[in-house]
Amino acid sequence: SQVDKGGHKHFMAKEIAEQPRVIGEAIMHYLSDDGRSVELPGKGIDFTAIDRLSMVACGTAYYACVTAKYWFEQLAGLPCDVDVASEFRYREPPVPARTAALFVSQSGETADTLAALRYCEGKAATILSVVNVPESSIARESDLALPILAGTEIGVASTKAFTCQLTVLLMLALKAASDRGRMDADTLADTLAKLRALPSAFNAAMEDADDIAAAARKLAEARDILFLGRGLMYPLAMEGALKLKEISYIHAEAYASGELKHGPIALIDKHVPVVVMAPRDALFDKTTSNMQEVIARGGRVLLITDKEGKRITHGDAWLTLTMPDIDPLLAPILYALPAQLLAYHTAIAKGTDVDQPRNLAKSVTVE
Ligand code: G6P
Repeated sequence: SQVDKGGHKHFMAKEIAEQPRVIGEAIMHYLSDDGRSVELPGKGIDFTAIDRLSMVACGTAYYACVTAKYWFEQLAGLPCDVDVASEFRYREPPVPARTAALFVSQSGETADTLAALRYCEGKAATILSVVNVPESSIARESDLALPILAGTEIGVASTKAFTCQLTVLLMLALKAASDRGRMDADTLADTLAKLRALPSAFNAAMEDADDIAAAARKLAEARDILFLGRGLMYPLAMEGALKLKEISYIHAEAYASGELKHGPIALIDKHVPVVVMAPRDALFDKTTSNMQEVIARGGRVLLITDKEGKRITHGDAWLTLTMPDIDPLLAPILYALPAQLLAYHTAIAKGTDVDQPRNLAKSVTVE
């Protein structure tokens, strides 16, 4: 079917704007009728039958996996490995019994991810996948394929597929937590109720899109940008840096905030803006103290936090963007929005081709 831009200037803008709807659809697809538990298609998966999860992907899908590792380990106590597909298979990793291998791919056709799947199949692992294209090779070759239901994604820089991947992975982690006796029925129901409110938080965050665009115009002047985050915000910092590189061609790198003093702090001066992703979670004080270290060295911080976070840091940052309040567990999904919009508006300010950045392909089907 013909997909158009629906009144938006770019597919990427359209796909960013679609997120509240498609995330909502993904949630409803996996929610039980009473809204209190997670339901998987077909035979599903019994998380008491596995001892280890190995997640493999490329690009943005890889960062979705890194985020999911935090969820699976914290919520379900399930040990996880995450690998970039091209490294995984050539390392020839052992795949012990009772391992499930999970492949995340928007297209379902990425050559390295598919090859990694076949490697795990050869080691008799249970093969799971989280895909956007249900008839893709990766979906067809899985024991259980979970669609993310994001709809066709045209922009080369993945946006709605990423947030739908995160949504499905979080629901899978919640199911794992419940199967493994780590989360009681009421806590699960409460968490799912919060998840159902995520689309409206997205809509609320989109009302501040002008502030994000204004911040992006300032970032557009930089040659190098650092992204910092802790815990669940670390993989999102990596995704934010990737988005920016892909479409604005500005060199961007992400670090776990705690690694700042182990190298990247040497780069800090007024020419290298530092984007700090910091909702008010258990690690907020540590992250803001890293932010102060940057400011003390003349660095300019773009802080992305919530209203209370802004109040506590009393405007010390160069720029502060405020997001709606959100449960820290869900923050990586919501905070993907400012990461995407910063990249989008920076690219617009630089006049680059947003939907078809140079040298990149939407789907990499050759090695
Ligand atoms: C390419 C795309 C990225 C994508 C990656 C993995 O590099 O440009 O946006 O994240 O492939 O693609 P997949 O279809 O496997 O998610």
